[in-house]
Amino acid sequence: MDDEPLILAFCCHYCAYAAADLAGSMRLQYPSNVRVLRLPCTGRIEVNYLLAAFEGGIDGVIVAGCLEGGCHYLEGNLRARRRVERARKLLAEIGLEAERLEMFNLSSAEGTRFAEIVTLMSRRLAQLGPSPLRRSRKRALAGAGHLIDQAETASSGVQNDCCRSQERA
Ligand code: FES
Repeated sequence: MDDEPLILAFCCHYCAYAAADLAGSMRLQYPSNVRVLRLPCTGRIEVNYLLAAFEGGIDGVIVAGCLEGGCHYLEGNLRARRRVERARKLLAEIGLEAERLEMFNLSSAEGTRFAEIVTLMSRRLAQLGPSPLRRSRKRALAGAGHLIDQAETASSGVQNDCCRSQERA
């Protein structure tokens, strides 16, 4: 439906992406209005990816990484949390609700939790209403697709150094 909130989920390959897969295998019911973008680690997330998603008209963004202490690249998820916080502040500065963006930590075994997170965000965004930056669902989806391509290109071949950019944390 056109008035359903659009959600983009940046998911770590090792946990949230596997949890999303598990939710699918378990046939758990959760809103279908989420597009999942797999990253080798949430440490790959950049503030500009997050802002670009909103600029493209996405209504809400989830960043989902490994449990604290469980990141395969040691501190990628901690770095991601700092970037998410920075992006939330920037969203508030431009008049968008910071609640449209949130980071979660979960394990690969938590398919049920993944479904709950998507449901929670979908309900929250329905209450907030569509992003004022959303022009049309079609354009927002096209923008998300472009972002996914960009992130995949940026992530290719970086499995071993995905969190090296400590200086940018
Ligand atoms: Fe999952 Fe870093 S490997 S968040």
